Amino acid sequence: MLDIINLKKGYKNVAAVDGLDLKIKEGEFFGLLGPNGAGKTTTVRMISTLTPKTSGDIVINGESMDRNLTSIKAKIGVVPQQNNLENEMSAWENLEVHGILYGMNKEKRRKKIAEMLEFTELTDRKDDVVKNYSGGMKRKLMIARALLHEPELLLLDEPTVGLDAAARRKMWDLLKRLKSNGLTVLLTTHYIEEAEVLCDRVGLIDKGKLLQLDTPLNLIEAVGKVTVEYFENGETHEEFFPTREAANRYAGTLEGNVRVRPSNLEDVFLKFTNRRVES
Ligand SMILES: Nc1ncnc2c1ncn2[C@@H]1O[C@H](COP(=O)(O)OP(=O)(O)O)[C@@H](O)[C@H]1O
Ligand SMILES: [Mg+2]
Repeated sequence: MLDIINLKKGYKNVAAVDGLDLKIKEGEFFGLLGPNGAGKTTTVRMISTLTPKTSGDIVINGESMDRNLTSIKAKIGVVPQQNNLENEMSAWENLEVHGILYGMNKEKRRKKIAEMLEFTELTDRKDDVVKNYSGGMKRKLMIARALLHEPELLLLDEPTVGLDAAARRKMWDLLKRLKSNGLTVLLTTHYIEEAEVLCDRVGLIDKGKLLQLDTPLNLIEAVGKVTVEYFENGETHEEFFPTREAANRYAGTLEGNVRVRPSNLEDVFLKFTNRRVES
C-alpha cells in the first residue's frame, strides 16, 4: 500500500530523515515510535507532500509521488501534530471548506460531514466555533476532516500529545474503531503504551533511522519478555530475561529495591539506543 524507499530529508545541520525504508500493508495500523526529534513529523510531512524530500521515493498503491501528486493527495488524509483548524469557524464550516477543496459535491459533502461528526461524537457541538473546543475535541475534528474525502491512507502525527489521560483513552477508542473498519493507518507517537495498544507493527525510529521493525510482541520477545529493574549507584538499571524463572533467579542475587515486571516497548528502545523514548 505505502512503500517508502531510502527516504531522506536534510536540513542545514541535521539529517532529519536518514535513509528510511518502510512497507506498510493494506489495512495495517502501523506505528512509528521514537523520541522528540527522531524525524517522525518530517516523515509524515513528506508523505503528505507538505515538505519536499531531499531524495528517495514514496510510492502509494504503485504510484510514485513525484509523478502523480494530485491523485495521490486525494488518497491521503492527514492529522498534523499542530492544530491547523480555522479557529474562528465552526466545526461544520471547517469540514465544509475541506470538502469543497477536495471537490466533493454538495450532496456528498453534507452526507459525509454529518457522518464524520457522528463518528467523532461532535454532532451536538457542530455549530460552536472551534476556538471554544477542548484539546481533545479539536483533535477529533482534525480526524473527522482528514477522513472526510474518504482517503485510503490516514496519517496521524502524535494524535494524543497534550491530551489528558481520559481524553487519550477516548481517542484510542476512536482509533480502534478506525482500525476495525480496515483503514490503513500510519501513526507516529512517543508514547509507548499508545504504540503497544494500537499498532499491528511498530518501527522504532531515532535520529532519522529505523532501528527495528516488527509486531510489539515480537520486539518484546526478542529483547526478553521479563525485565528486572533495580536501583544502583543512583541509577535505574534493567536486565532482560526470556522467562519469569530466569528473571526471579537473577533478582534473588540483587539487593535493595528490585522489581520484576513484564517488558515493554520502552525496554526494547532502551536496549537498542541506551536511552528512553519518553523523556
Ligand atoms: N524546518 C526545519 N528546519 C531545520 N531543522 C528541522 C526542521 N524541521 C525539523 N527539523 C529537525 O529535524 C529533526 C527531526 O524533527 P521532527 O521530524 O520534527 O522530529 P519528531 O517529529 O520525531 O519529534 C530535528 O532535529 C529537528 O530539529
Ligand atoms: Mg513530531
